[in-house]
Amino acid sequence: MDKLAIIGGRELYGELAISGAKNSALKVMVAALLTADTLTLENVPDLADVRQLIQLLTHLGVEVEREGSTLSLTTGDISSTEAPYDIVRKMRASFNVLGPILAREGKARVSLPGGCAIGARPVDLHLKALEAMGAQIELDEGYVIATTPSGLRGAEITFPFVSVGATEHSMMAAALAVGETVLMNAAKEPEIIDLAECLIAMGARIEGAGTETIRIKGVASLHGATHQVVADRIEMGSYAMAVGAAGGELLLKNGRRALLGEADVILEQAGLTLSDEEGGLRVTKWGRPTVGTNVETAPFPGFPTDLQAQYMALMSLADGTSVICEKIFENRFMHVPELMRLGADIHIDGQCATVKGKKVLKGAPVMATDLRASMSLIVAGLAAEGQTMVSRLYHLDRGFERLDEKLQSVGALVERVKDEE
Ligand code: EPU
Repeated sequence: MDKLAIIGGRELYGELAISGAKNSALKVMVAALLTADTLTLENVPDLADVRQLIQLLTHLGVEVEREGSTLSLTTGDISSTEAPYDIVRKMRASFNVLGPILAREGKARVSLPGGCAIGARPVDLHLKALEAMGAQIELDEGYVIATTPSGLRGAEITFPFVSVGATEHSMMAAALAVGETVLMNAAKEPEIIDLAECLIAMGARIEGAGTETIRIKGVASLHGATHQVVADRIEMGSYAMAVGAAGGELLLKNGRRALLGEADVILEQAGLTLSDEEGGLRVTKWGRPTVGTNVETAPFPGFPTDLQAQYMALMSLADGTSVICEKIFENRFMHVPELMRLGADIHIDGQCATVKGKKVLKGAPVMATDLRASMSLIVAGLAAEGQTMVSRLYHLDRGFERLDEKLQSVGALVERVKDEE
């Protein structure tokens, strides 16, 4: 278990390359199950979650080759229709193999993912959508056992609330169903558009991705394709907040404002300057105070829940008070006690946290609790006086590629240290 030692107070200057999006890469990798041909994916980040999914796909019969950031996945035959608990419980995105296996093989046995640190996170919407497409579903010993006695067929599905995972899962299953599927109240995240583009390149007929109504006309089979994974908007937003907290100017290569949705306006209100340039997004914070600005998380284009913790770190240093409300997950304030160890003044009341900005935070040992919470400690540590030691770095390695190297390259004093515990 590595730790990250940060000496705060250095401004960040230079260029930093934003990697392919974790949450898109994981889904387009699963799409490889939908064709017997080779799906080539470019710009795939080298992350623990990606390696974990490769392990599951290999178990299912996918041949995987990696060269740099390019992955080639070939699923000649699906050799196992079962996704075991040991893998699915570690990474929820792997539950999305259910629909593709079912679409190709007519049966699947996939472990329920279980809860996770940020909330209960059920999969009822995924299962209801597959049932609407004709799947018969039973739950047995923690597994979903699904069959399609007469194949998957198109259906009209209205989601009661927006779910990224259920939208993606339904899109993949519907791509090989007989007839048209209409998804209403669908998620609009850039990762949805990315998956749709990948599926379309594989021969799927999809319209409306990125809007709240997605229409998918099923086809008999999909073919191989090459697809480039979209830039990681959460990595981009996190580094933008690091600039906000520590000061300086970064060119976030491959980034663009549109990927931030409303977070772009919020960051400007908070005192950053953002501009699209050829090659990336330029983020600047010079001398201006950080302004306390209220935020409520929401599905895209609203403020992303995956940036909430990092934004709270930024607001801990703001001039004034801000109220930050988490509306997507029920337990996503685990960073609060850790930020308070650095001196932040935060009071939680239900779904909302009131943050009174401080002039300075002071370095301290802190513990990472989940992926995005860990990044908030880094944002705070980069601005805090003295040393912040972030333990349990494996959470960060799940979702931020070469974090320490990237930060060092723009002037941050950070160092990965081996944990002796
Ligand atoms: N939900 C249900 N039933 C379902 C599905 C979702 O009740 O069947 C609830 C969830 O518990 C949550 C809300 O609906 O309260 C929204 O969940 P959603 O399905 O949109 O989230 P997800 O697909 O499980 C993805 C990302 C998350 C990100 C959310 C929201 C991946 C692998 N994960 O999760 O990313 O926070 O969308 O944008 O794409 C992360 O990267 O750190 C992360 C948690």
